[in-house]
Amino acid sequence: MHEPVFILKGNIIYSKNITEFEVCEHGYLVCRDGKVEGVYQTLPFRLGGNPVRDFGDCLIIPGLVDLHVHAPQYSYRGLGMDMELLDWLEVNTFPEEAKFEELDYAEKAYRIFADSMRKSATTRACIFATVHRPATILLMDLMEETGLDTFVGKVNMDRNCPEYIQEETQESADETVEWIKDVLHKKYANTRPILTPRFIPSCTDDLMEELKKIQIRYSLPLQSHLSENPSEIEWVKELCPWSEFYGDAYDRFGLFGADCPTVMAHCVYSDDREIARMKENGVFIAHCPESNMNVSSGIAPVRRFLEEGMHVGIGSDVAGGSTENLFRAMAHAVQSSKLRWRLQDNTLEALKAEEVFYMATKGGGEFFGQVGSFEPGYEFDAVVLDDSRLRHPQPLDLKSRLERMIYLADERDIRAKFVKGQEVRL
Ligand code: GUN
Ligand code: FE
Repeated sequence: MHEPVFILKGNIIYSKNITEFEVCEHGYLVCRDGKVEGVYQTLPFRLGGNPVRDFGDCLIIPGLVDLHVHAPQYSYRGLGMDMELLDWLEVNTFPEEAKFEELDYAEKAYRIFADSMRKSATTRACIFATVHRPATILLMDLMEETGLDTFVGKVNMDRNCPEYIQEETQESADETVEWIKDVLHKKYANTRPILTPRFIPSCTDDLMEELKKIQIRYSLPLQSHLSENPSEIEWVKELCPWSEFYGDAYDRFGLFGADCPTVMAHCVYSDDREIARMKENGVFIAHCPESNMNVSSGIAPVRRFLEEGMHVGIGSDVAGGSTENLFRAMAHAVQSSKLRWRLQDNTLEALKAEEVFYMATKGGGEFFGQVGSFEPGYEFDAVVLDDSRLRHPQPLDLKSRLERMIYLADERDIRAKFVKGQEVRL
């Protein structure tokens, strides 16, 4: 067990709000019982005598939150990136995901994924597995070992995929219940199940009804994909002619926020009605900018989401995105927002470093509760960054140093990582 109270010393930086950083140079970040007690420029007398870890001139930031990532796709990162979404799923994704029926293969592949997540700056993640129950449980065992705090979902799909990976409707529902029972028995500290219908094209209405029953029975959250790519959206119109818009095809089944905490990845083409419904229902958006480029989806109107006060986080969407490194995802979010502004719609201003940092910490963190900030009472998720590898000819202020990390940092620059006050072995 960790000490009930311990203190990290360093250059503390986190989001004061969506447009400003809060900075405390050479300050003290106090953890009590897994939560943030406070950030102090000088250590209060009453806290003297508690252990202090001095990280010198390092930066200390809240842990990063990956709101959308596919564990089985880690093995084909960077491959076949010349295709559009639906072809990419057929050619790359389904054949690879089918291999996870074999536990030996799943163990090899998931160990590599779990190791990479452990070494990254990510402390929280919403993870897709595959349709396979045993391999999904294995992934959850491995994620629990990392010390990260995650939601993991067994994928459901009972239509429009190759028969070697497609489930029968009832089988899909039954396997989901068995999987939930199995993992609830395990009493993981940091790993929870999340319902994961892959997306509307791969789930029949009957399956969605079954999933709603399961959602109520076990009070589970849900993750899926929404309005990612034009060909996918056209397909949903054909499959669900009764839906007002794509998101409505989830909402009809009660699987779109409201009484079912929901993360939807992408939302590149969400129209006014879909945006209004997401806002009303409190749906979280996982913005996955690199994936949206790689499978030719487009650029999500993130500035609009922020102006509307919606819940927006960042997702790596491996293997649509090529890396689990969320610093890259933050940089991609800024870069793609600039192209959107220049080429598509100059009414939506490009994103700033403060905004993408907020999304990658507190924005996505909110899906996990009080996560993603160093405000008192927040869960103590912290990452210590050493930027000395990125040499510079003159001193930089803290904000500039963090901005540079957003563009340049990777796992080599991480000195320590804590989740809920527990140190993660890097
Ligand atoms: N839509 C349905 N499945 C997937 C997937 O695996 N990746 C992405 N990016 N979009 C999807
Ligand atoms: Fe995805």
